Amino acid sequence: MEASTEFSLRPLMDGFGVEMRDVDLATCGPDVHRAVVETFDRHGVMVIRDQRLSPHDQMRFTNAFGTPEENPRREYTLPDIPEIYVISNKIVDGRKIGDHQAGQGWHTDSSFLAEPVKCTMLYAMEVPDEGSDTLLADLCAAWNALPPERQAELDGLQVQHSWRALMELKKVYLAPDDNTIPDVVHPMVRAHPADGRKALWVSTGTTRGIVGMPNPQGLDLLDELVAFATQDRFVYRHKWHVGDVLIWDNRCTLHTGTPFDLSKYKRHVHRTWVRGDRPN
Ligand code: SIN
Repeated sequence: MEASTEFSLRPLMDGFGVEMRDVDLATCGPDVHRAVVETFDRHGVMVIRDQRLSPHDQMRFTNAFGTPEENPRREYTLPDIPEIYVISNKIVDGRKIGDHQAGQGWHTDSSFLAEPVKCTMLYAMEVPDEGSDTLLADLCAAWNALPPERQAELDGLQVQHSWRALMELKKVYLAPDDNTIPDVVHPMVRAHPADGRKALWVSTGTTRGIVGMPNPQGLDLLDELVAFATQDRFVYRHKWHVGDVLIWDNRCTLHTGTPFDLSKYKRHVHRTWVRGDRPN
């Protein structure tokens, strides 16, 4: 028998994010998954507490959002499931099982791709007592808070996103002719495909500048807009509990991980990504 779709919802912040209760993601059927995805599309961020998901359960749920994206960093994916990326500081049998620094610094996932990932899901199996909060900024609220004259100046600007820029930041050496992932240009203001709501789609780490604007002016403007969009009034701070599932919509949010005391605590999280479309 199909599980009931009568889950309950509670806003995480006024107008941003939703917490869903009374749902068991491991046992519910496709109708519930569909209803969860429809709810997610309207809220930017979703939290579902008290879950127990095997890697296959997480993949089944991820599939409800679209096509899962494999992670190219195979040293930290599950051996038999390359779409599950392990975020962890644990050492098992003398081997570091995961990446413990994933995603620190405000960004939206893989914006250096022509088709950046649509959404990201984290499932927590072990979390520190303090630290490691994940912060999510509401880029639609940030856009709506700008005065109309400012919106008119920014709407239509194009941002150059660059995988090379990210590698330079991470101090990864690339040969000068390495063009594995060429730079891409994306609009600074992005309309959400579900309902057309606009987001101030800026980021750090991957950006080289603004098309037609010299640097440092272009990069300074991007820094100014990221600082604006990540003010406390636009940010949901997720404090982790074991069993939490956190999903964010990269089309209308920025996020960052935060550090924790590695000498005191262990963290073990499974992350999946869902393939996205070209921003417009
Ligand atoms: C990420 O950005 O992918 C991970 C963020 C976190 O671990 O809190």
